[in-house]
Amino acid sequence: MLKQTLIKATLAGSKVLQQYFNGSFTVSSKSNINDLVTQADKESEEAIFKVIREEFPDHYLLSEEAGDLKMDSNTKWIIDPIDGTVNFANGIPICCVSIGVEQDGKMILGAVYNPFINEFFFSEKGHGATLNDKKITVSNKSDLLRSCLVTGFPYSYLDAPNGPLQVFEKLIRNNIPVRRLGSAAIDICWVACGRFDGFYEHNLNAWDSAAGFLILEEAGGKVTDFGGNYYSPYQPNMLATNGKIHDDLLLAINGNWNP
Ligand code: IPD
Ligand code: CA
Ligand code: CA
Repeated sequence: MLKQTLIKATLAGSKVLQQYFNGSFTVSSKSNINDLVTQADKESEEAIFKVIREEFPDHYLLSEEAGDLKMDSNTKWIIDPIDGTVNFANGIPICCVSIGVEQDGKMILGAVYNPFINEFFFSEKGHGATLNDKKITVSNKSDLLRSCLVTGFPYSYLDAPNGPLQVFEKLIRNNIPVRRLGSAAIDICWVACGRFDGFYEHNLNAWDSAAGFLILEEAGGKVTDFGGNYYSPYQPNMLATNGKIHDDLLLAINGNWNP
């Protein structure tokens, strides 16, 4: 039932994205002028809530626009109604709905759907990960110098040692291709299906990473924070790789990699 509701909710949200894409919708700013929220983010969120609440009115919801809707439940839905809002607002079809389900503090289900290229990533704890119902696995590459990476940058410039630009510079100076798609959930799923070998980002929120985290783990990948500790979506930094380049990328992120 949880699984069916997750799929239904993800599709309900994505229908809203399709309805508004390249059309007219209101756009406003949040933390700064380029941190956007559109009418579609809000309506996608409402459509997702409606589906979940019909089946599970008592479940805990944590969602980007509505916030922390605490309930006395051991099941929590972690929702990003549009991941890649800046792309969406500019008519760039790299955006998705991302929903993770956590039970007793552990991720048990994850769904990430980009309706514009019809890619539905799904995973259930212990049952692997799929893209459009076909099993996916991470890549095999073990040499960071030959890897293809992806990252993202926070909306507000993060001025910190080993911050986003320093890590980016280190990788680029070593001629490593590092892409920036603009949707963390898609980035992580594209590591899960082997298109990228690794993803890292500073300052993510739980709704950006929760679903992707499980999808990547179930596809055979490795996910930690920047200290190399087992990942929690409630802390900001994510390193998500095929496992084989993980240690070297961790060293690079911490400024200690000397190829
Ligand atoms: C953002 C995207 C972007 C990442 C930002 C996120 P939003 O989410 O995932 O790729 O770089 O850190 O906040 O605002 O589009 O839901
Ligand atoms: Ca997001
Ligand atoms: Ca969002």
